[in-house]
Amino acid sequence: MHVLIINGSPRVKQYSNTDKILEKFTMGLCENGTTLEQYEISDKKQWEDIRGAYYKNSNILIALPLYVECIPGLLMEFLETLQPKNDGTRIAFILQSGFAEGVQLRCGEAYLEKLAGYLGCEYAGTLVKGDNFSIRFFEGDMRDRVTGPYLEMGREYAANAGFDTEKCKAFTGAEILPAPVRLLLRVVFRTIGRTMFTRIARGWGCTKPLDYRPYQ
Ligand SMILES: Cc1cc2nc3c(=O)[nH]c(=O)nc-3n(C[C@H](O)[C@H](O)[C@H](O)COP(=O)(O)O)c2cc1C
Repeated sequence: MHVLIINGSPRVKQYSNTDKILEKFTMGLCENGTTLEQYEISDKKQWEDIRGAYYKNSNILIALPLYVECIPGLLMEFLETLQPKNDGTRIAFILQSGFAEGVQLRCGEAYLEKLAGYLGCEYAGTLVKGDNFSIRFFEGDMRDRVTGPYLEMGREYAANAGFDTEKCKAFTGAEILPAPVRLLLRVVFRTIGRTMFTRIARGWGCTKPLDYRPYQ
């Protein structure tokens, strides 16, 4: 099997969490001879080649981050340039996000299923997973702890030409975090989180407090 992989993040490859996820995913994917070609939506110079590859390939995987509860605008802009295929092409998605709860990705997932139809492709499932904010801030073992599990999902995709398996469905984890964890997170965000984000904002040259509301 040959797979066309499109990283749908507007972030350049070097800084894209989706790219780091794909690094691990494709290791598992290629173990038994599956081949791939990968492109980045963030690089508009690649768009013509991506379009060519979209019409040529019969197994397509679009990996994308959740941006403001839905799909990134730049990816949407690209998708609107495509014509429906109606030739039996299978299309699957990896939908990943920052926040951990599966429930917040379900609306995006439902849209992606419709998108497969709009593109005249057979829907081959969506791998849904949050809790990925930190990937690009980590290196080595710390990063592997987050991205490592995608290796197995690459194997699953290679074996089933999609994500329609129980293992892939279970990969999402909790739909809603348990109440004690939500409470703990609230405390952490209001204390350590606040200090950390303030430090990051200062590093970016921000001189106002985080809750500054000039228009209120
Ligand atoms: C503009 C913007 C909007 C985002 N919106 C959401 C969101 O609605 N829900 C969420 O869980 N994460 C959200 N995130 C976090 C990203 O989904 C997450 O960091 C993802 O791993 C980024 O992948 P990328 O680096 O490949 O773009 C957002 C990030 C950005 C920059």
